[in-house]
Amino acid sequence: MSVRKDSVEMGVTNQGFQDADGDASDSVSEAESVEKQESTGVKMDPDPDPEEKYNQMKPYAGMPKEVLLLYSSQARYRVPREILFWLTVCVTLALVAITITVIALSPQCMSWWQASPVYQVYPRSFKDSDGDGVGDLKGIMEKLDHFQYLNIKSVWISPFYRSPMKDFGYDVEDFREIDPLFGTMQDFDKLLAEMHDRGLKLIMDFIPNHTSDRHRWFNLSRIRDPHYEDYYVWVDCDPNGPKPNNWVSIFGNSSWTYDEVRGQCYLHQFLKEQPDLNFRNPNVVQDTIDTIHFWLKKGVDGFRMDAVKHILEAPHLRNEPQVDPNKPPELVTTEWDLHSDYTTSQVGLHDLLRQFRAALDTYSREPGKYRFMVMESYDYEEVEKTMRYYSTPLVRESDFPFNFYLLDLPYNASGVWAKHLVHLWMGNMPKGEWPNWVVGNHDRHRISSSAGPAYVRVINMLLLTLPGTPTTYYGEEIGMENINVTQSEIQDPAGKYNTSASRDPERSPMQWSSDMNAGFNSITNVTWLPVHPDYETVNVEVQKKDEGSVLSQYSFLSHLRESELALHRGWFCYVHADANVFSYLRELDGLDRAYLMVLNFGKESAITDLSYIPELPDQLTVQLSTNHVNNGKVYQKSQIKTEVGEGLVIQYSTSQRYNPNHPEECYISQKACYLPTVNILYKC
Ligand code: GLC
Ligand code: MG
Repeated sequence: MSVRKDSVEMGVTNQGFQDADGDASDSVSEAESVEKQESTGVKMDPDPDPEEKYNQMKPYAGMPKEVLLLYSSQARYRVPREILFWLTVCVTLALVAITITVIALSPQCMSWWQASPVYQVYPRSFKDSDGDGVGDLKGIMEKLDHFQYLNIKSVWISPFYRSPMKDFGYDVEDFREIDPLFGTMQDFDKLLAEMHDRGLKLIMDFIPNHTSDRHRWFNLSRIRDPHYEDYYVWVDCDPNGPKPNNWVSIFGNSSWTYDEVRGQCYLHQFLKEQPDLNFRNPNVVQDTIDTIHFWLKKGVDGFRMDAVKHILEAPHLRNEPQVDPNKPPELVTTEWDLHSDYTTSQVGLHDLLRQFRAALDTYSREPGKYRFMVMESYDYEEVEKTMRYYSTPLVRESDFPFNFYLLDLPYNASGVWAKHLVHLWMGNMPKGEWPNWVVGNHDRHRISSSAGPAYVRVINMLLLTLPGTPTTYYGEEIGMENINVTQSEIQDPAGKYNTSASRDPERSPMQWSSDMNAGFNSITNVTWLPVHPDYETVNVEVQKKDEGSVLSQYSFLSHLRESELALHRGWFCYVHADANVFSYLRELDGLDRAYLMVLNFGKESAITDLSYIPELPDQLTVQLSTNHVNNGKVYQKSQIKTEVGEGLVIQYSTSQRYNPNHPEECYISQKACYLPTVNILYKC
């Protein structure tokens, strides 16, 4: 074999190289022959055909580009190389596609505020650790096990800021201090840390609309300190003359009070000791946002925003139209006498709230640290006003505004009424948003008193089986009743104005046990409001031992809600409503296990016939009845029996979904389907 000299000069032969035609020994012998030829001075062919000359060569290290190209273009090198190249491209593309598909197909995960009920603690009344008769932060700390028993992960604590307590903490003297009655900042930090250790989230009450008249800002505003002069809404008025306009306070009478120090009137939509902040002043907005940051930095998980619809007022200060135009103006003294066109829900309100939201969002980016925001706004029949507090696809606002409609359930108890109230929310909520339900709070009578003890269980069952986040006011999980408060015992400012408006009855001490003061204060014999006389039977300790109790049922349903996909993120469909019964189902596409609820809110026992619904099996087994002796009962679907106040949770198995055939009757927030073979959820 002849070898060109210029090739030989390029370098040393690659002795390790093997090709398909030969072996290493061939290469060695060729190299030797080259050396021999050189040393013997044999002349090389000066210009052989280039194709041929390169074909004659074997590759070796340091070969020239032409040689390399020659070899690399040979099919035996090119084909595997191209295969490898395209394989790498395909695998990379496939991985990118799979990642995008998985992201696109995965339904949104439930956040913590969707995963469990929100429990409202009214701190004055929850647990008194030091025996002064008023509940406190250390008291809440002592009772954290209770939340775990109830499978509650989110706890909203009503205000515990420093306050003169004219409105029991909703009159804040200092937004960055804890009232000594409730403890210290150290107690708060400990409580928050302990709650986080246990996987509990703490939601604080935030009161943007007003401060206490003892707040430093108000004192500085009164003396016209240049920075604080416009922190509140001040208007010229004559101390003994007419008020600036006909606006009234939520607690009754004029919302204007003359201030001797400044010589002007200030606005207060609540008590005169709760002057309204002027949110048209950018410094007020900034100070409020700074306060939000203060608590978020501490690690607080969210805020319940108090009385938000009152935050702005019309600057023109015109009289509001009277509901009854013929009523003498001097008799216009309550919020029900006026259309609150200029004191609530003013233009600009949502821009402000969105700024608050933006502050929360800056702390939400860390994984698992989502900060939650819920609005308090009673808009009554103007439900579309409430719905505006939801975020939109373009702008973030609250996670949800509180849904107060079920608070009206006891006043007209029937199946049709229950469906009507539920539908007020479901029929008006923006598509894809998350519902929520409130059946009690510190401003409204307890269920046991407004609806009657017979309905406590069924109302809690409704609360815990509807789609969305349930909110439970302390004590409702054991069916506590209102207390009777005599005229002389009234503590609530609203009650001092109008006895029937007093909120004291629903604020009595939590009933933990049959011990002294129901276990609320085990040190001294004082409690800020009387303990309900029924505490020896209605208390946590006793009810824990009774599997048929309100408490046991609550705990069972709260756990069931979390563990059952159909209940916490499935379809919600109306099935039936009549004078007594409201019935609905929960199902998830792809999942065989579904739930039917049959709840009797009426005044008579009922036999409900659901035989016209082919998607339901003929026989239905009761998983849980509010009357626990009926657990496990089997009903024909044509004859489902419920007593007054009885509710049934029926678990059934089906491959036939109800929602595709009844799109008008069904709702889902974030649609997802279940794939049983691989046990995953996907967007569908
Ligand atoms: C909210 C509170 C209520 C309070 C009022 C004034 O409505 O729930 O208790 O009195 O705001 O802050
Ligand atoms: Mg205001």
